Amino acid sequence: MTQDEMKKAVGWAALSYVQPGTIIGVGTGSTVNCFIDALASIKDQIKAAVSSSEASTERLKALGITVMDLNDVDSFDLYVDGADEINPQMEMIKGGGAALTREKIVAAVARQFVCIVDSGKVVETMGRFPLPVEVIPMSREYVARELKKLGGNPVYRAGVLTDNGNQILDVHGLHISNAKQLESQINNIVGVVTVGLFAHRGADVALVGSPEGVKTVTR
Ligand code: A5P
Repeated sequence: MTQDEMKKAVGWAALSYVQPGTIIGVGTGSTVNCFIDALASIKDQIKAAVSSSEASTERLKALGITVMDLNDVDSFDLYVDGADEINPQMEMIKGGGAALTREKIVAAVARQFVCIVDSGKVVETMGRFPLPVEVIPMSREYVARELKKLGGNPVYRAGVLTDNGNQILDVHGLHISNAKQLESQINNIVGVVTVGLFAHRGADVALVGSPEGVKTVTR
């Protein structure tokens, strides 16, 4: 299987977690786009979607899927999203597509997080993929100096504004041995909106696409 075929396979595999008549939390990215396409095939059986980005909202609506505002939803069962890296503890780096803040918010409300990835995203120790950090624009250089103190090498993702009007620093050179601690430390820096470490709220299930097929990993 090619990488694209693996993305499609996990996107369709995630459909088996969708319960009829429910609201589905939808992440962002090329793998999630495959899930959205699969979801469209059963759109009459679901109540609606809650989306984590303008890009996913646009794709969902174009395929005829109703998108609800998260503020109008008390709770829902399932959130499906991709990741840039995932480790054996089901902790993830996310935000390669700059949607990390809304992804973390939607994931926080969902009861179950199903992560869909190809096998290239599975790592023992996270950090080879630069860690995205969304920052309030006026705080960018201050936050960058603080991130250097934590051992990282932050690089401004020039020309990118998030859906929330903020900027992204990509932190290179980290070897993340304690993801929960680092998530808390970075969240505590004034000016940080969200760090793309999903450790305190990791995935409950990972559907991993490999050349041999889709493997299911649970906590
Ligand atoms: C979006 O900001 C990210 O968190 C994505 O979920 C992540 O980058 C995975 O994207 P792909 O499926 O495109 O690799």
